Amino acid sequence: MPVKTPRPGDLEPIETASRDALMALQLERLRWSLEHAYGNVAHYRQAFDRAGVQPRDLHSLDDLARFPFTVKADLRQHYPFGMFAVPREQVVRIHASSGTTGKPTVVGYTRNDIDTWATVMARSIRAAGGRPGDIVHVAYGYGLFTGGLGAHYGAERLGCTVVPMSGGQTEKQVQLIQDFRPDIIMVTPSYMLAIAEEMQRQGIDPRASSLAIGIFGAEPWTPTMRTSIESVMDIDAIDIYGLSEVIGPGVAQECIETKDGLTVWEDHFYPEIIDPDTGEVLPEGEKGELVFTSLTKEAMPIIRYRTRDLTRLLPGTARTMRRIEKITGRSDDMMIIRGVNVFPTQIEELMLREALLAPHYQVEITRPRNLDEMTVLVERTPAAGGSDADAAGERLAHLIKNLIGVTAAVRVLPPGGIERSLGKARRVVDKRPRH
Ligand code: DLL
Repeated sequence: MPVKTPRPGDLEPIETASRDALMALQLERLRWSLEHAYGNVAHYRQAFDRAGVQPRDLHSLDDLARFPFTVKADLRQHYPFGMFAVPREQVVRIHASSGTTGKPTVVGYTRNDIDTWATVMARSIRAAGGRPGDIVHVAYGYGLFTGGLGAHYGAERLGCTVVPMSGGQTEKQVQLIQDFRPDIIMVTPSYMLAIAEEMQRQGIDPRASSLAIGIFGAEPWTPTMRTSIESVMDIDAIDIYGLSEVIGPGVAQECIETKDGLTVWEDHFYPEIIDPDTGEVLPEGEKGELVFTSLTKEAMPIIRYRTRDLTRLLPGTARTMRRIEKITGRSDDMMIIRGVNVFPTQIEELMLREALLAPHYQVEITRPRNLDEMTVLVERTPAAGGSDADAAGERLAHLIKNLIGVTAAVRVLPPGGIERSLGKARRVVDKRPRH
């Protein structure tokens, strides 16, 4: 299918600026951000003082390594508004991520922050191949989650026609896609699959829909899942990354012309990769935990935030800004099964090699006899017969044993056996007793 290559004039000048110009801007903005955090947020003042550093100690970008990290628990501890660096009256928007337990993590935005977010999201949609005049169907959830409104403001800023559908009501999603004929859909990859399935249920060929581009993120998805979605939908499936604590979606975006990892919008978000055990900054190209420092955010500056996402930094290709490798796991999702580290995406990658297995799955962990056991629950495709699919399940168990090195039971369920998510898919169900 034709790829819409951006014309040079479409890009903001900073997207193609020289590395030197970019780094000079980053240093200037980083100084401002550290001063702003230190001067206005008690948590940062105390944390910097404890570490014996002051914003004026930053002489080069590398000096950032001297500053303390921020973790999710810091945000929880200052719930709800304690991390804000401006009077609450200047905060025009609140978002929150629910998390699995306890209090949500609250983030705030000034009017300028909302403007910055719309700018990076418009940039992201354009990098994914979107153009002014396109119709954009937003099926990320609206509300406290940043997906829906983040996509919405970005698409409007780019000059698109936005359909603010939000998540859920799958039949209606299909109806609006059929009737409004959008060019682009923005949704989690797992919910895209549920929408495609609903189209098929209604006798509609998903490949015949008007959609040409899908901008997918908010959860890990593998390159094999990309191939699978692209062939089911006949679209370009492009990766978008972000997190609420840093701004929301639009922190990094894959470019359609290269599809080789995600360009970090480094003029607003400064990335580092650290060793998750020692906290030491790793050289470019090495895999570790992604850490972000905001360079321009007013309401809630964030300094060296540990994302728990695992990836590596790579040099720029389609843009001068650096890329991150596609994120296929976060340290929180890592299962340790009898000493072997396993990510759900490793299983996804192997599962999709089997044509009779559908990309709907969950991994259950139990501890029946004081030893962890892993069961992969996966559906067969509607076309597959029960016994052929069971044989595919056995082959999957072998692949998991041989390539990942853990023993897993594979249970093949009939179509619809795995609950569909309306947003982020829940891949791991931990049924081990809590101590
Ligand atoms: O998920 C923001 C977002 C919305 C991103 C829509 C993209 C599209 P949170 O709910 O705070 O924010 O969750 C952030 O989701 O730390 C990653 O672990 C994961 N994540 C987000 N995008 C990707 C991606 C939004 N493209 C957390 N690939 C992050 C893998 C992703 N994981």
